[in-house]
Amino acid sequence: MSATMIEARRVGRTFGEVRALHDVSLRVRAGSVLGLLGHNGAGKTTLINVLTTALPPTSGSAVVAGHDVVRQGRQVRRRIGLTGQFAAVDDRLTGHANLLLVARLLGASPRAARRRSEELLAAFGLEHAARRPARTYSGGMRRRLDLAIGLVGRPDVLFLDEPTTGLDPASRVQLWEIVEALAADGVAVLLTTQYLEEADRLADSIVVLDSGEVAATGTARELKARVGTLTVQLSFAGPGQRAAAEDALRRSGLRPAPGADGSAVGVPVESSAEVPAVVRALDT
Ligand SMILES: Nc1ncnc2c1ncn2[C@@H]1O[C@H](COP(=O)(O)OP(=O)(O)OP(=O)(O)O)[C@@H](O)[C@H]1O
Ligand SMILES: [Mg+2]
Repeated sequence: MSATMIEARRVGRTFGEVRALHDVSLRVRAGSVLGLLGHNGAGKTTLINVLTTALPPTSGSAVVAGHDVVRQGRQVRRRIGLTGQFAAVDDRLTGHANLLLVARLLGASPRAARRRSEELLAAFGLEHAARRPARTYSGGMRRRLDLAIGLVGRPDVLFLDEPTTGLDPASRVQLWEIVEALAADGVAVLLTTQYLEEADRLADSIVVLDSGEVAATGTARELKARVGTLTVQLSFAGPGQRAAAEDALRRSGLRPAPGADGSAVGVPVESSAEVPAVVRALDT
């Protein structure tokens, strides 16, 4: 079996009164993808921050690429790539210059940096736009450049925070293919997503976070079997309504999850006889 590259052991993190993470444990092996699913504020980014050494845990511990994230932060950082939720791209620089900058920061010689940058631009289909400032890129191109930046140092472990949020279906599939190829190459990938569909397609295993706690762990197939096969899809006029509805559904003991797109919510049910309960929860 391949080596464990990410291991969180009962990681906790509080911000004052807010308990962002509580007792979160998970494990990702080389060459596999773990999908971290959860609602807004579930703690996904906080966990990535802990695992990438940006934020110390307040309890528990984590080992990434064989090194402790608190005591051996520098060694961890040398082995990981991160594509954050908010793009690390410098808009004023061209795609090429963005990559060059990171390669040089990582210690590559000018020549090696240029080679790596060109390699990545080609791999991500950005050659034609390499000499344009990144601010002229489309959302999908930016996301690809962002991912390329995370790969400059040839990481063994890759963290992707909502890599496909805001992308159109075609760009999304393109990104999925890149992630699949990286995993096939032996990279351990932890990605967060709000889309069950994305986790289903990409992840070898899934961890569902709910208010900072692990609510479920398993393969997509196992999780689907557990939640049942029927889902009531609810659409809302705005995010405020959606948030209020999610609260009401949870208070009624239902388990709302992000739906097919950002404005929808899915509620798993065992049978159609449960639909009235969903309606009643919304009514209250
Ligand atoms: N620096 C901070 N100071 C105070 N509270 C924080 C801080 N960072 C995160 N939190 C809180 O921790 C909780 C988890 O936030 P986090 O950003 O990890 O959620 P998330 O799952 O990434 O959400 P989203 O899907 O919206 O990106 C939230 O309640 C958030 O307000
Ligand atoms: Mg987040």
